[in-house]
Amino acid sequence: MTDHDDASAAQTDVSEAQIAVHWREEDYYQPPAGFAAQANAGDPAIFGRFAEDKFPGCFTEYADLLTWDERWSTVLDTSTPPFWKWFVGGKLNASYNCVDRHAQSDAEKTAIIWVPELESDEHEHISYGELLRRVNEFAAVLRDYCGLGAGDRVTLHMPMVPDLPVTMLACARLGIIHSQVFGGFSGNACGTRIADSGSRVLITMDGYYRAGDLIDHKVKADEALDEALRQGQEVDKVLVWRRHAGQYASQTPMAPGRDFFVDELLAEHQGAKVEPVSMPAEAPLFLMYTSGTTGRPKGAQHSTGGYLSYVAGTSKYYQDLHPDDVYWCMADIGWITGHSYIVYGPLALGTTTVIYEGVPNYPDAGRPWRVAEQLGVNIFHTSPTSIRMLRKVGPEEPRKYNYHFKTMTTVGEPIEPEVWRWYYTEVGKGEAAITDTWWQTETGGFLGSTLPGLQPMKPGSCGPGALGIYPVIYDEDGEVVPPGSGRAGNICIRNPWPGIMETIWGQPERFIDVYYRKYNRDQESTDWRDWPYFAGDGALQAADGYIRILGRVDDVINVAGHRLGTKELESAALTVDEIAEAAAVPVMDDIRGRIVEMYVSLKPGVAPQGMEAKVSRAIEVEIGKIARPKNVWIVADMPKTRSGKIMRRVIASVSNFTDVGDVTTLANPEVVDKIRRQVQSTKVAKGEQPRELTEAEKEEIAKYGNAE
Ligand code: PRX
Repeated sequence: MTDHDDASAAQTDVSEAQIAVHWREEDYYQPPAGFAAQANAGDPAIFGRFAEDKFPGCFTEYADLLTWDERWSTVLDTSTPPFWKWFVGGKLNASYNCVDRHAQSDAEKTAIIWVPELESDEHEHISYGELLRRVNEFAAVLRDYCGLGAGDRVTLHMPMVPDLPVTMLACARLGIIHSQVFGGFSGNACGTRIADSGSRVLITMDGYYRAGDLIDHKVKADEALDEALRQGQEVDKVLVWRRHAGQYASQTPMAPGRDFFVDELLAEHQGAKVEPVSMPAEAPLFLMYTSGTTGRPKGAQHSTGGYLSYVAGTSKYYQDLHPDDVYWCMADIGWITGHSYIVYGPLALGTTTVIYEGVPNYPDAGRPWRVAEQLGVNIFHTSPTSIRMLRKVGPEEPRKYNYHFKTMTTVGEPIEPEVWRWYYTEVGKGEAAITDTWWQTETGGFLGSTLPGLQPMKPGSCGPGALGIYPVIYDEDGEVVPPGSGRAGNICIRNPWPGIMETIWGQPERFIDVYYRKYNRDQESTDWRDWPYFAGDGALQAADGYIRILGRVDDVINVAGHRLGTKELESAALTVDEIAEAAAVPVMDDIRGRIVEMYVSLKPGVAPQGMEAKVSRAIEVEIGKIARPKNVWIVADMPKTRSGKIMRRVIASVSNFTDVGDVTTLANPEVVDKIRRQVQSTKVAKGEQPRELTEAEKEEIAKYGNAE
């Protein structure tokens, strides 16, 4: 939408990315005084240390948080842009940094507290000394039993159990590149990622608890291997951790010679010691797959030295981790948040990190606050979706429990100011700082946030660029949209930083195309200033530099903070034989931010009965339950341009009850009314009519599908 009354006139004098968004500027909340007094970043001199003229040397402050086997000779090598290399010449081991050095200084200190979902089960406290033992023994299995070594890729498909960080750190000890696939993803999604990464070993678990049920997880391993093989990748070994020692929680048979119980293998490697392998700073530490505009997932490749430095530094200053804190991030380790801010950042700093197995509201909405009280959690980290859900099901639950947070984080989606205020007042009891952290799988760590002891909070805005991060908002033509202009555009980061991914695994051209092509000023240039990083988010910057993220500008739907690619959803629907065409659209949802609706048309002569369920099921099989559409609409014909492109913004508008805009140029404008009647009358009958959309939401819908 525009700030002009006459939308068509406005479109002629401003480009699409510049279109203004209305909202009220929120008031500042000052950092709580008690918090500021103890903050790691409590002295404003830090801003001088990270000033632009100190780039890139400023980031050595982060690298110095780690123990290096060999110090780097070059902080930033820009010779092959945009494949930046950080701390070149340096050597280190991530597992040594996250485990050994803390075990050496205090072996008894708790590294991980694991909270099983069932409340009757005891919490498990794992000391740094114990973690070291487990990591060594499992590393011995990987090296001696599986024959794996530096540079090999291994796919992990594990739930939220301490065996997951043990597995990751054992890989890191040997320089093996781990690729953890979110446990809720389907077997097929896992198989695609096995094939893309070229893994010959899959590490999984038999089962885990979710919402009170013991889920059979190993069944997905068989599906994953079939899918990987279909895509040309053979897997030799499947290592299966067991949720309950000595008992097998899956109905699926263990394939002889291929599937092995980890506890049995570990028994043969008791007490084993594996020297950490000293890795070059730029050696890949892990791959994390994410979605983009096209169907093939992108394996964001993160480095050992740059990544670990960046997550350690941002954990110190933005999460304000001190050695004695008990820190709980409720995200899943299967996403980047869990890698950076459950495992690598907190453990690199020697903090105590809490891992919770299950869903936040099991068995009731008081669970998170009971856990916080029982464990003395003082730093809490979660997503707006969880906050919205907990607010809905238990708005007054937090006050029943005696816990005290000093700081609280949100991540993954924009947070509405009302929800922010509930988080601040009820969950934080008015005494905790909130850090709203904007970043991405690709970026390794935070890009936009307030420094909790030094910068005031503003509900709904993540804050300014993080230390050493210089954001800019460009319009479609590459002109800067100035802060305070009230106009939105494409947010970019002008400079490289150590946490940025190195490339997309196996797709270097796509890496350049997706993130750098748009605003690159000179392809030959080795000056980083010519290569702004294009984040793919629409954003607006206020006069004070604070950034408000509006959402994706590519065809990605952010469901509960999880990125789902339109193309992945559509190709999943098209695996159903009877479906001729499919289109995925986002629908605004009060809890999960966005949810997916599918529109499909059938091949000639196909009866519609049962097709909705078939499409839903196909999406569950290809991607996972999180992607299950709210509705599947079977339509006779999709609205299309004359060149045959499906107009996703038109059907998205119908699903969201907003204005479909100009449809006169479509090849078949008459179908729009038909679809509207069909969809909206059913929704009204089901009580699904959404609330009035904000201007920014209307804008998102009006642009939806443009990235194709
Ligand atoms: O659109 C932005 C949104 O989530 C996208 C990144 O998703 P993913 O790679 O899955 O990583 C999620 C965890 C870092 C971004 O492009 N996003 C992330 N954090 C925020 C956000 N939107 C608004 N505010 C945030 N704090």
